[in-house]
Amino acid sequence: MTTEFVTPAGVVKAVNDVSWDLHPGETLGVVGESGSGKSVTAMSILGLIQKPPGRIVAGEILFEGQDLLKMSEKALRQLRGRAIGMIFQDPMTSLNPVLTVGDQIAETIRLHNRGIGRDEARTRAIELLAMVGVPDPESRYDQYPHEHSGGMRQRVMIAMAIANDPKVLIADEPTTALDVTIQAQVLDVLRTAQERTNAATIMITHDLGLIAENADRVVVMYGGKVVEVADVFSIFAACRHPYTLGLMSSLPRLDVDVEQLEPIPGSPPNLIDLPTGCAFHPRCRVSKGREICRTEVPLLRDVGDGQQAACHFSDEVPAEMAVVSDEMGAQLGTATS
Ligand SMILES: Nc1ncnc2c1ncn2[C@@H]1O[C@H](COP(=O)(O)OP(=O)(O)OP(=O)(O)O)[C@@H](O)[C@H]1O
Ligand SMILES: [Mg+2]
Repeated sequence: MTTEFVTPAGVVKAVNDVSWDLHPGETLGVVGESGSGKSVTAMSILGLIQKPPGRIVAGEILFEGQDLLKMSEKALRQLRGRAIGMIFQDPMTSLNPVLTVGDQIAETIRLHNRGIGRDEARTRAIELLAMVGVPDPESRYDQYPHEHSGGMRQRVMIAMAIANDPKVLIADEPTTALDVTIQAQVLDVLRTAQERTNAATIMITHDLGLIAENADRVVVMYGGKVVEVADVFSIFAACRHPYTLGLMSSLPRLDVDVEQLEPIPGSPPNLIDLPTGCAFHPRCRVSKGREICRTEVPLLRDVGDGQQAACHFSDEVPAEMAVVSDEMGAQLGTATS
């Protein structure tokens, strides 16, 4: 799939020929720096790209064999909230401020289940609020979004997302806006919700720790492209793309309260005017100025055991990983001595 935005400065290639699959029951982690195209991918799947300025110029999004890009807006709306549930970073923008949280959940239930009456929907909504750990759900039902804390609002979003037993859950930075203790609680709720529905989950985050704890498989995005796909163990033990390696190097620094990933020298690519060849080459420590990196776009290819990487020299990444580990060890040594 390719999604672009037409802007006065030029065409922003936000998502550039991205392809992945999602299997029943699994959690797919999508990770990458700010601007790498994670949210635009999610919004494209959900049919929520504003057109214009956005346009999906190529590709297909297959859900149980049906191409979502060919569906009517009405059919898509049915799918969202029923088969596909979504949780965003800021629940305030997704919740309706003039409706009580309970009524919003009940409305979601009734919208997608014609046979359910008001009382039954209310009862189910209260059950859902209890399930996501909202205390005193009966009285909380009648409160408005602004009367809830950020963590509580995010629980309400999760309740809404799972109200109709979705097959797919898309969570875009679901806990980024919350403080650390609340983050852990909300993640627990999300995991429970996922187990209850057995929904396949796309978890978008820039937090590798979150990926390590929650994902089965990982997609790494850079400059609107997928640069690596692997199971979560391989990503941490034996990544095969220099960019993923760069992300790894930031992990110890998470202990010293660094919230954004900023381990890799240089800045993310300009999506209007991408570097030639591999978009990562100007920042790459493996390329070492080799010509092919500047001239040829590396394709995502199998590198063994279901792992895929888009790098001309992915074979050299494990050795580089050893070098990075040594450097990091040395740094930690200096830091503690
Ligand atoms: N409506 C829009 N008009 C123009 N450009 C856009 C629009 N929406 C997104 N973009 C651009 O698309 C690119 C990808 O954005 P996206 O939101 O997917 O990044 P992301 O990976 O989710 O980053 P973050 O971690 O900050 O959420 C960015 O360069 C962004 O500026
Ligand atoms: Mg985003």
